[in-house]
Amino acid sequence: MKVLFATAELAPLVKVGGLADFSAGLVGALRAKGVDVDIVLPDYGDLALVPADQQQLDVPDWAGPATIRQGTLGGVEVSLVAVPAMARPHPYLDADGRGWPDNEPRFLAFSMAVAVWATMTSPDVIHLNDWHTGATLGFLDDPPPSVLTIHNLAYQGATSGDRLESFLRRSDAYDREGVTNLLAGAITLADRVVTVSPTFAAESLEPETGFGLGELLEARGEAFSGILNGIDTDFWNPATDLHLDQHYDIESLDNKREVSRSLVAELGWEPNGEPLIGMVTRLTDQKGVDLALEATSILDDVGARMVLLGSGDRSLADAARRVADQAGDRFAFRDGYDEGLAHRIFGGSDLYLMPSRFEPSGLTQMQAMRYGSIPVVTDVGGLHDTVTDADDFPTEGNGFVADEVSGPAIRDALERAVNSWRNPSRRAEIIRRGMSRDWSWDAPADLYNDVYSEITSVH
Ligand code: ADP
Ligand code: GLC
Repeated sequence: MKVLFATAELAPLVKVGGLADFSAGLVGALRAKGVDVDIVLPDYGDLALVPADQQQLDVPDWAGPATIRQGTLGGVEVSLVAVPAMARPHPYLDADGRGWPDNEPRFLAFSMAVAVWATMTSPDVIHLNDWHTGATLGFLDDPPPSVLTIHNLAYQGATSGDRLESFLRRSDAYDREGVTNLLAGAITLADRVVTVSPTFAAESLEPETGFGLGELLEARGEAFSGILNGIDTDFWNPATDLHLDQHYDIESLDNKREVSRSLVAELGWEPNGEPLIGMVTRLTDQKGVDLALEATSILDDVGARMVLLGSGDRSLADAARRVADQAGDRFAFRDGYDEGLAHRIFGGSDLYLMPSRFEPSGLTQMQAMRYGSIPVVTDVGGLHDTVTDADDFPTEGNGFVADEVSGPAIRDALERAVNSWRNPSRRAEIIRRGMSRDWSWDAPADLYNDVYSEITSVH
């Protein structure tokens, strides 16, 4: 089975969020199972590819010149596509955290290059991810069997109709009342549409949570489903993690206390025996960062401290900084993207807060559980599929779930979590359940493989 896998991100070198982890984790697991996967990634510049065997891609003038270079990037085989205006310091955002104004044309050109590459390489399956690659199927006359994975329904690649005439196939699929919607077109044209958790798949069909695409997804019937993401459990492993100065597993949790002590020292605080709540996130409305900042008001009363690492929206970063300035050693904010600190927060925190407004899958709650940090989450999307409330289900619970997305419900869940944490045997049980579940890509990769087999057998 030969799969062309097109994505805008690939961990660890080109990473904004979970799409990068998904691409690296799923492709790694598929390759380990013998699937021949060609990862096609935009060339954002400054990526050291070895060796660099370059070919010209025969794209229309508006998308060119386009070239593809194949080689290894950080030890992983990839195909890097260069198209005009793609090379930027950040794949999508300017220095203020706003989207580049030409994001749609940039990724339209990338999708055109992917389509040309598909014609040259004739894969058995083409696997697209999010709106960035959504135009590809419209540019192909006779596309191979195709899968679209939707990671985030909120970003659809809506743009002016200028380029519609260049779609070879079903330009009507991309046209939504005069606006070209790249995700909608791919939803219509792909043989199978997958989103990244079963609960988010169900939520996507509802008018209030479907981001305007619910009916379109509903129309796909059985061709639309949810497959929960995994995480790379070799990379996310507290027993070997190079970012931690002590290592531990489920049998040696005492060492986790050392990791916590180091993190507290790194934040410039004295140890005080209170639980530390961690949060690692993109700063966007989706992640409920404002709700988390609001919840810092109970830290004094419940006796807990909190650290937030986040990058993205400037106004959310400013708000976090203001709260931190007032909070003394109750709340610390670290602005930016910091892989090492993220690992140390998963390792060093006792509780992990993720008050998302919506969450297609979410990986950080899984990373937290893998590192023995107890998740406190809202009951949405992939959070619903991974976290079970330990008060409601005392023999199964692996975390704490706020029953609605609201300040009071999140504060209540946090308070319940802190209280349970204070009971050592209860705490140990909850941590054990989170740490012992298999969060790896093994089972999800089999499900994607099944999808590939289904679409190639009926095509
Ligand atoms: P999303 O893709 O919506 O941002 P996910 O939970 O799926 O959310 O994945 C986010 C990924 O990015 C995780 O691997 C997480 O550890 C990482 N991450 C998020 N924000 C940061 C940050 N500021 N610094 C380092 N890693 C981050
Ligand atoms: C998106 C979603 C997140 C998901 C990730 C990887 O960024 O916001 O929930 O885990 O994609 O699929």
